[in-house]
Amino acid sequence: MQIWSTIVGFVALAASASAQITKVADFSGTPTKLGMYVHVPKNLKTPAPVLVAVHHCQGSASGYNGETKYSSLADQHNFIVIYPNSRSSGGCFDVASQATFTHNGGGDSQTIINMVKYAVDKLGGDADKVFVVGTSSGAMMTNVLVAAYPDVFKAGSVYSGVPAGDGHPGPPGWSNSCANGQNIKTAQAWGDLVRSFYPGYNGTRPRLQIFHGTADSTLRYPNYAEQLKEWSNVFGLTTSKNASNTPQSGYTQTIYGEGTATTAQLVGYSAQGVGHTVPQHESMDLAFFGIV
Ligand SMILES: *[C@@H]1O[C@H](CO)[C@@H](O)[C@H](O)[C@H]1NC(C)=O
Ligand SMILES: *[C@@H]1O[C@H](CO)[C@@H](O)[C@H](O)[C@H]1NC(C)=O
Repeated sequence: MQIWSTIVGFVALAASASAQITKVADFSGTPTKLGMYVHVPKNLKTPAPVLVAVHHCQGSASGYNGETKYSSLADQHNFIVIYPNSRSSGGCFDVASQATFTHNGGGDSQTIINMVKYAVDKLGGDADKVFVVGTSSGAMMTNVLVAAYPDVFKAGSVYSGVPAGDGHPGPPGWSNSCANGQNIKTAQAWGDLVRSFYPGYNGTRPRLQIFHGTADSTLRYPNYAEQLKEWSNVFGLTTSKNASNTPQSGYTQTIYGEGTATTAQLVGYSAQGVGHTVPQHESMDLAFFGIV
């Protein structure tokens, strides 16, 4: 037993050591000077899907790379991972300014879009296969990105966030009412907020998968229902079905509208008793994105 765990330990170390990320030195950083880090598999077959992986507050690009398996999965499944790195002292992203909420309006959201353009232009990324995943501040950014740039992303996965357009829940400018899940709006009001990020947009919208823990004491659980209200309104989905203990004990899966867990426009996962944040389910993300 002990030998086995030692061997497994070495394998895990080897896997994480091979999944290095590199700073893109010639990325301009405009308009908000975020750092751009990437993992590009050796022998990448191009054009390759692009996954943007956005870290949480008090986090970093390299920290998120260490906490998640996206880079090693990229080696197995041939995609590029972009890790934006916050420039704020608290390690949060700007998920509340009018600029970040506006298509081509500036803010951290536009800087991340410029990273996607760089990956498509210079690293062999496929502009038709761009995805985003994030945790906490990164989850909020995921909602902001798919709301403001629905033309760029095909799908997103949100781990423990708040609705797009809600107040700033990360320092500086912490919003208690948002974090505490007290900003309750109608589905129509949330939907109008999302539509205001890119007025007149009438194309296809990115598909979304949203995770939240019922015991989240940082971004409280009502934020889960508010996100689902928001996106079901944007997508015009009025029916849903629940499956308990899916994909694991204590998780309730809610599929909106037609389709399955990997094809539906909107899928939620409520994790009973789980706090901040819901553990990453990388293989579910890749399946939802259609990468695997
Ligand atoms: C969608 O928007 C584009 C660009 O604004 C416009 O050219 C097109 O006519 C619109 N399509 C519909 C169906 O409204
Ligand atoms: C589905 O599950 C959610 C919690 O995950 C719950 O709020 C909702 O009432 C459930 N819907 C049905 C029809 O049981």
